[in-house]
Amino acid sequence: MDPKQLAGEQAAAYVENNMVIGLGTGSTACWAIKKIGERIANEGLQLTCTATSIQSEKLAEQFHIPLTDIAQVSSIDITIDGADEIDRQLDMIKGGGGALLREKIIANITKYYIIVADESKYVAQLGAFGIPVEVVPFGWQRTAEHLEKLGAKPTLRKKEQETFITDNGNYILDCDFGLINDAASLETSIHNIPGVVVCGLFISRAHKLILGKKDGSTEEI
Ligand code: 5RP
Repeated sequence: MDPKQLAGEQAAAYVENNMVIGLGTGSTACWAIKKIGERIANEGLQLTCTATSIQSEKLAEQFHIPLTDIAQVSSIDITIDGADEIDRQLDMIKGGGGALLREKIIANITKYYIIVADESKYVAQLGAFGIPVEVVPFGWQRTAEHLEKLGAKPTLRKKEQETFITDNGNYILDCDFGLINDAASLETSIHNIPGVVVCGLFISRAHKLILGKKDGSTEEI
């Protein structure tokens, strides 16, 4: 079985009746969404679910998962989401799929944050994957200069040769900082730049990592 499927489906087992659930984004979290949909259909689970992206909203609708707007949800029992890199402290880089802002807002109100990933995402040190930084379109070139002063090589994200636009109408600068020694202070420095909406460093947020492996096994950390 696909390691992403193994991890995503295993995480869905943590969901219990009457919980408020955050639905993550990406090709791993989608397996958890699918499994949650199956559990609602088979077990009659009553859940309040809110999604981290338009993509995940559409997927949830496809699996007949009832959705509640974040405006009505002040606290989430469990969120299941993916990661682009996750280290031994469970600090992460997220945003490869461009959903980092909604993902961070949802992570911020989540009591138990489960990350699902294939084993290639589990690293000794963050930074081989460039940090996605969501920026407002106004003056993004100036924001990019400030990121360069922090040591980044920023690249404006494109999709099919057009500038990638997030669900929130913003741009993404993928920032290569090299290997990162102090991710917590880098997150703060990036957030202090005017024009930055959010960065893809998620520090001290995850409670559980479920890794899917090529040999068909899983590991919970
Ligand atoms: C989207 C994300 C995803 O969770 C991350 O990119 C992992 O995606 P995948 O499971 O497809 O590898 O942060 O913004």
